[in-house]
Amino acid sequence: MLRQQDVGHRIVVRRIVGIREGRPLFSDALGELVELSETHLTLSTAQGQLRVPVTQVHRAKRVPPTRRPTAAAVVALERAADEAWPAPTRGQLGDWLLRSADGWSGRANSALPIGDPDRPLPAAVDAVERWYADQGQPPIINTPLPLAAPVGAELDARGWAARPPVLVQTAPLPLRPLPISGPPPTTAPSGTAGDQPGIAVEASGRWRGAVVELATAPSADWLAVAAGRKGGLPDAARHVLTAVGQVRFAHVYVDGTLVAVGRGTVTGQGRWLGLSLIEVVPVARRQGLAGRVIHELAGWGVSVGATHAFLQVEQHNTAAVALYQRLGFATHHTYLTRVAPH
Ligand SMILES: CC(C)(COP(=O)(O)OP(=O)(O)OC[C@H]1O[C@@H](n2cnc3c(N)ncnc32)[C@H](O)[C@@H]1OP(=O)(O)O)[C@@H](O)C(=O)NCCC(=O)NCCS
Repeated sequence: MLRQQDVGHRIVVRRIVGIREGRPLFSDALGELVELSETHLTLSTAQGQLRVPVTQVHRAKRVPPTRRPTAAAVVALERAADEAWPAPTRGQLGDWLLRSADGWSGRANSALPIGDPDRPLPAAVDAVERWYADQGQPPIINTPLPLAAPVGAELDARGWAARPPVLVQTAPLPLRPLPISGPPPTTAPSGTAGDQPGIAVEASGRWRGAVVELATAPSADWLAVAAGRKGGLPDAARHVLTAVGQVRFAHVYVDGTLVAVGRGTVTGQGRWLGLSLIEVVPVARRQGLAGRVIHELAGWGVSVGATHAFLQVEQHNTAAVALYQRLGFATHHTYLTRVAPH
């Protein structure tokens, strides 16, 4: 059972939430113990505070803390992510990055407020507004949290809107294998897409004919998928997609049709495999193709020395979040895309 010295620590509580056919029904809650009295315990959970009468507590114990990344780790990962998605037009405000790519994608058209902007915060936000006005674009700032919480507070005060939260997730390489039915994958001597050198691996199951090809350049079909997903493909988009030293474009063709794509980059002094634009056409979903694409990109990442993988996913994208969780990804930090009022 818990004692006062457990207050402030992470605990798991198994509580009795009802009785069915004479047997207790249990529910587990995980969070930080904020208060322990003779009658109740109060937990701070990811969903908010939870007050549990001690009479409902079946079992409770302390569990190891979640390891929050250090500010330096968040900065390093954000910089690796910036390298992996390079905006062609760039500026700097002290340590802050200013990025523009003809409006193509939020990340490449937003300021990244990490480090010292070399001026007071209100003046820094004013300068961001001016820089984007000069580009003829709306000012956008991506705030990694909790690192950039002070910037977020300044933007709240100015009435900036927030887009849905994005999870920045990481996993150690090699990735956790996914259970795959059918024969084990085989590596073909050479796989090409658009005549680029690459690696080819057979898929299995119903999509047995599917081959994951890793190419150093995207095919026209691949670019069409990216255009569909992100709304068009200005010249700046090609730069964002291809201007990375280590990059691979995954293509999966079935009967001559491109059914799955993905992009992998290795940045951050060779440490980080970045995964982006993972997409499977609706008719080919839940056949293991996204898992196969990610594993092929991860295998390539390992072969060039990457030790960890990262990706960015909107919190409400439940399919993708479930997929990444199965592959061993966990949230490193989150960010909010903040947009200036018109
Ligand atoms: C997310 C997406 C890429 C998944 O592709 P997929 O080929 O269907 O995924 P897989 O078949 O490899 O899924 C492997 C596992 O991930 C999980 N998963 C995938 N899609 C899921 C869904 N819709 N709901 C719940 N779990 C899901 C399951 O655990 C699944 O294993 P299972 O089918 O044995 O249960 C696909 O839904 C997609 O293209 N969505 C639109 C684009 C997108 O959101 N991309 C990600 C951006 S970050």
